Amino acid sequence: MAIGILLVGGMGTRLKPLTNQTPKPMLPVGGLPVTERQLLAAKKAGINTVILATSYLSEIFTPYFGDGSKWGMKLLYAVEEVPLGTGGAIRNAAALIDFADSKEEFVIFNGDVLSGHDIAAQLAFHRANKADATLHLIEVADARAFGCVPTDANGRVLDFLEKMENPVTNAINAGCYIFNSSVISEIPAGKVVSIERETFPQLVKSARPVFGYSEQSYWLDIGTPAALFKGSRDIVGAGFLAGLGSKIGEGSLLTGGTSIGLGSRIGANCTITNSIIGDGVVIGDNCTIADSFLLHNSNVAADSEILGKYISPTENLPISL
Ligand code: GTP
Repeated sequence: MAIGILLVGGMGTRLKPLTNQTPKPMLPVGGLPVTERQLLAAKKAGINTVILATSYLSEIFTPYFGDGSKWGMKLLYAVEEVPLGTGGAIRNAAALIDFADSKEEFVIFNGDVLSGHDIAAQLAFHRANKADATLHLIEVADARAFGCVPTDANGRVLDFLEKMENPVTNAINAGCYIFNSSVISEIPAGKVVSIERETFPQLVKSARPVFGYSEQSYWLDIGTPAALFKGSRDIVGAGFLAGLGSKIGEGSLLTGGTSIGLGSRIGANCTITNSIIGDGVVIGDNCTIADSFLLHNSNVAADSEILGKYISPTENLPISL
């Protein structure tokens, strides 16, 4: 069965300060890290071995996921001392297994995407077309902020175009792609390589069979604070979601898609709206919290007002959504 690679080593600069202590893919949405949601999606498609390509704050992943047995999966970790870019990361991760002789395809996930698309169907499409590479394409209302990917009537990719004022199509790379091992062999080892700017355009230029699998499913890139909060709200809905072992004091009102992690304690008479609250957080009585992100194990004193803030056990910084 295909092998998964999760690209989770980026700096997450646009999400700062939320990524000061947490890699972007480990930020919780609807109570679970994005990476965990992707692992569950991979498993559903029959992918049981996944390599996490880590770099920035790599040490955060292993204690949480271990060897993957908790999820019935086998997880391996590739650590880049210096970030190698998306392409270099894939090459480095695949080197953990004997990929050159592998008949298995590699299913690669950008680690910052929530997608409900059918990964097994994407794999079947890849095989049916005898493709070397197949990317999931999604149509967005306004493609100007993205590179766009025109295809022919059979889904064969014609070009990879940079951002432009008048995109020729609204189809964009949705961040989940399937590579045969031959494609990975061609990525130079130990070098910084961008899959989007180098590998894909080169494959198309040399007339290799690269296909676009189009599926309009739930899709969100959680790369900015506003997008991360939207992703969490989309999962939670209008009310709130509280993880196992959490306690909410009398008279407290939680709304606006607020999520609370495992074992957190909210005092009495608090109002919490549109906020992401991690595991083991303790909030005193009579607090008002809105549009804020409280990292695991942070504490909030009674009678606090926290509006548009990032709170960690050591930091208290403004965020704008
Ligand atoms: P920004 O700094 O805000 O642009 O975020 P980012 O650094 O995460 O970059 P981007 O959103 O372009 O990355 C897309 C995905 O690839 C994310 O899941 C990143 O974690 C991952 N990624 C980006 N660069 C690297 C890298 O050098 N190594 C690894 N292993 N993953 C990377």
